[in-house]
Amino acid sequence: MLEFEKYIREIEDFPKPGVHFKDIMPLLANSAATEKCLEHLLGMVSDLSIDKVVGIESRGFFFGMLLAQRLDAGFVPIRKPGKLPYTTLKEPYLLEYGMDALEIHEDAITTGERVLLHDDVLATGGTARAACNLIENLGGKIVQCNFLIELKPLNGNQKLKKYDVKSLLKY
Ligand code: PRP
Ligand code: MG
Repeated sequence: MLEFEKYIREIEDFPKPGVHFKDIMPLLANSAATEKCLEHLLGMVSDLSIDKVVGIESRGFFFGMLLAQRLDAGFVPIRKPGKLPYTTLKEPYLLEYGMDALEIHEDAITTGERVLLHDDVLATGGTARAACNLIENLGGKIVQCNFLIELKPLNGNQKLKKYDVKSLLKY
């Protein structure tokens, strides 16, 4: 068990019955634990020539932004519909608990840029796959799909077979 793991709290039946929700808020509330976690996430990124780190709203923003700063890369948010002010590309996806869509600014990534995708949790993989589609539609090259937590029984990595998928904690 990694030293910061105790700061990730499991909440049963949130947001729906049967879902074991991994709550990273206690981790974020602790500066030293956040730093340790960030160092481990950076350790998974062997290729340091990354142009953009893409974080998925909302929980992918926290470590996504920290990773971008440490990697000397730009940060790009992928957001839920209607949140981004400029012209967007949109991609619908199936969530562990419902249907949704994601958007990215059309000028956020330029052709050939090397992209690290980050999110807090890989569950069914629908969210990350939609994000990959958006990045590739803008011509980005996905260097790695990087997650803090992977929920193995949900087989999300099956939707990301063509990418280098790395998760720090597997449950
Ligand atoms: C959660 C989690 C991942 C996604 C994983 O986000 O933060 O982004 O679900 O699910 P999947 O692999 O089954 O697609 P959620 O949509 O709940 O929103 P939030 O990050 O804003 O809390
Ligand atoms: Mg999320």
